[in-house]
Amino acid sequence: MAYLRWRRFTELASLDRPWLGELFMRKRNKPIVAAPVEKWDAEYQDGIYDRLNRSEQRHHHRLLAAVIGDRWPNPRVLEIGAGEGVFYEALRAHRPARYVGVDFSRPAIERGETRLAPEIAIGEVKMLLGDGRTFATDETFDVVVFSECVEHLGEVEDLVAHYAPNLKPGGAVGLTMWLALKPLRLWHCLKAMGQVLDEAVINTPWGGGWLVAVVRPKDAVE
Ligand SMILES: C[S@@+](CC[C@H](N)C(=O)[O-])C[C@H]1O[C@@H](n2cnc3c(N)ncnc32)[C@H](O)[C@@H]1O
Repeated sequence: MAYLRWRRFTELASLDRPWLGELFMRKRNKPIVAAPVEKWDAEYQDGIYDRLNRSEQRHHHRLLAAVIGDRWPNPRVLEIGAGEGVFYEALRAHRPARYVGVDFSRPAIERGETRLAPEIAIGEVKMLLGDGRTFATDETFDVVVFSECVEHLGEVEDLVAHYAPNLKPGGAVGLTMWLALKPLRLWHCLKAMGQVLDEAVINTPWGGGWLVAVVRPKDAVE
């Protein structure tokens, strides 16, 4: 318990002090290794992520959806690494005009197609199979969301540059991230790339926390 408390303290303190995170990070020179698609496929097939549908596992989705809905009425949202589209459940209350979820795991996309079948049928939602590092579309969006997946998608600069053409003027990147020292580097990187419109931490009773943020990249002028 004392260790967990210490860890939370260092994570929270590192949000604005990258040097502190680097100081306390174990295995700091070991890169973050992205999991292969087979691992995700097996986990979705085994229903491991069913637990993510539980209410107490979705506070980060709800906050990000509300922050988006506040700024962009009837938002158009592209979610990369969307899994089975659970984020849409939170977005629905904000009457999105468009939601496109992209994931490289076929079982995840298939589950998403079932989950969101009514919205897919009327053309408001699409669930697409694709690699989030290279996915390309001509559509433009108010927000491109990376929820619990940015650490699997390579360098943040490359990612934001790749999706910049898909942002409408004044559009932004939405992020949720489980708080941990190593992935915080990615947050610091994203933060440095533009204007932070919103940033919050949701603490959970079981000791973890999510970072929820919206950043307007420098080039996405209003
Ligand atoms: C922890 S889940 C998060 C799912 C969803 N964004 C959410 O918040 O509920 C991470 C997702 O990222 C996806 N993913 C990982 N690497 C990816 C890649 N290179 N391209 C597309 N999706 C990827 C996985 O298949 C998985 O569905």
